[in-house]
Amino acid sequence: MTNGRETGLRLSATGQLALREEPVITRLMTAALERPELLSLAAGFTDNARLPAAAVERAVAALRVSDPGKSYLQYGRNAGDPALREALAGHMRTFPGETLPGIDPGDIVVTNGSQQLLYMTVQLFCDPGDCVWVQAPSYFVFLELLRGLGVRAVSMPVTPDGTVDAEGCRRQLQQWRLEGGTGRPRLAYLMGAFANPSTRSLAAEEKTALAEVFRSEAPELPVVEDMAYRELYFGAAPAIPSMLSMEAWRDHPVLYAGTLTKPFATGLKIGYGVTRSTVWREGLERIKGHQDFGSSQFAQALP
Ligand SMILES: Cc1ncc(COP(=O)(O)O)c(C=O)c1O
Repeated sequence: MTNGRETGLRLSATGQLALREEPVITRLMTAALERPELLSLAAGFTDNARLPAAAVERAVAALRVSDPGKSYLQYGRNAGDPALREALAGHMRTFPGETLPGIDPGDIVVTNGSQQLLYMTVQLFCDPGDCVWVQAPSYFVFLELLRGLGVRAVSMPVTPDGTVDAEGCRRQLQQWRLEGGTGRPRLAYLMGAFANPSTRSLAAEEKTALAEVFRSEAPELPVVEDMAYRELYFGAAPAIPSMLSMEAWRDHPVLYAGTLTKPFATGLKIGYGVTRSTVWREGLERIKGHQDFGSSQFAQALP
């Protein structure tokens, strides 16, 4: 049974959208798994040879000693394991360029990969027919996710070298206001570090200029900064201040979308979101409570 219509099953609007097309990412994953001798960058696979098998074995052995109560095999907290949230807050403080002193572990929500975080965020802010403002070019799986929820993607203005054109964004926001707000996006999605597919990072000045535009034209428009690739680079760690840590974005609803899949192990599917917006964090927690009421304790215990 592949199609509800064939069997007379009555599908919801979301169900119909889901059945309309198979996500390209799942086909890419299947193709990658069928050719293990190739490293599929299209599917975002990491190098098998570099997966941290020895570290994971050590971590599993250590768990048996450090956690005789076996909480790693039990259900856990919806927002994530407190020890991991604490460790993530500490880890983020070590990223070069992060300028604010504290990231509160209470502002962190652990998810099943950052993909779940992105999905829940769109669910939180968008209804079918709404649109999301995306940096162009954008991450194709995010664009597919939007289509699956009946949400449209609209490109942010960029200059030929890929810089987000802050003044162009201002004009566009003003235009939407003149038109009475129809077509105005409900969410903005940018990639701060080594964007997929362009590999470009947003410069601090670029983000500051954008913050000024958002402050005056769209102070309530939530912004996602996807940092999935932040920890993957050649040579010295680049200094990249996230929007979350920049004074210019201090009062704006911003979500830092992070993941441990790329820098640690893709198969563990542990991602995390950080936001100072209470509504955003609580909204994510409520939706996660409905979806799975907590990511795998075992996977969270290993990094
Ligand atoms: C830009 C970007 N964001 C998010 C993700 C989602 O990754 P994960 O769900 O494994 O954290 C990916 C995966 O390739 C990505 O390329």
